[in-house]
Amino acid sequence: MQYESMTIQINAINKFYGSTQVLHDVSFECQSGDTLVLLGPSGAGKSSLLRILNLLELPDSGSLNVAGTTYDFNHNISEKDGLSLRKKVGMVFQQYNLWPHMSVLDNLIEAPIKVLGITKEMAKQEAIAILTQLQLEDKADAWPLQLSGGQQQRVAIARALMMKPDVLLFDEPTAALDPEITTQIVNIIKELSRTGITQVVVTHEVDFAKKIASHLLYLEKGYVVEYGDKSSFTSPKTDAFKHYLQH
Ligand SMILES: Nc1ncnc2c1ncn2[C@@H]1O[C@H](COP(=O)(O)OP(=O)(O)OP(=O)(O)O)[C@@H](O)[C@H]1O
Ligand SMILES: [Mg+2]
Repeated sequence: MQYESMTIQINAINKFYGSTQVLHDVSFECQSGDTLVLLGPSGAGKSSLLRILNLLELPDSGSLNVAGTTYDFNHNISEKDGLSLRKKVGMVFQQYNLWPHMSVLDNLIEAPIKVLGITKEMAKQEAIAILTQLQLEDKADAWPLQLSGGQQQRVAIARALMMKPDVLLFDEPTAALDPEITTQIVNIIKELSRTGITQVVVTHEVDFAKKIASHLLYLEKGYVVEYGDKSSFTSPKTDAFKHYLQH
């Protein structure tokens, strides 16, 4: 196992909301190009765990090493740490979170100009290239609300890619999409993994998970129950995960 190819290491994370513990000693690691799927019943802690990976949520203890930087949660993590990490760790939200008053192109170029400081011309060129890659080149001047759900989802992915992330996080990316669009998302995730981007994907849909996963982590009530490579789908190590796959 090469250290340089390790993009995420999360170690003994505990997270409380008030007095309720929602994550218990969670650890895992991902290498460059891995696609880790987070599975588990509603309330298991999947979204909380995902949000910790880009410091949108701070755990109470444990540590995280992501894209070359270590965060020890026993010490204070500043807002600045979060901002700098989120340049390298992109998130595609379930509700897409596109700005409705901006064209698709403006949605894409806003952050790289403001946060990375690249020129508008450069940002536009990159936006067109990414939109073309995602088969959206004819939508550059459209308003988000003129697009279908699947197109909005792809614009949200395009916007995240504008930041050239090392890691891309997805929370339920296919929740509201029909099967054909889900297939497009599968293909996009597979292509991105070939470019070396590490992806962590929360989903309820086992069929979708099987198509994209190189690795999986199955949570119940904040505990890691099953963790391994995709062979766990065909030969689960635990009865709990086997049972989950059957319903
Ligand atoms: N901001 C919050 N404040 C208090 N409790 C929260 C907060 N966010 C989540 N929780 C609680 O933490 C637990 C884990 O929630 P989380 O959203 O991580 O689950 P999930 O696995 O993503 O569930 P789902 O599949 O329904 O999206 C739940 O019991 C939830 O009620
Ligand atoms: Mg969730």
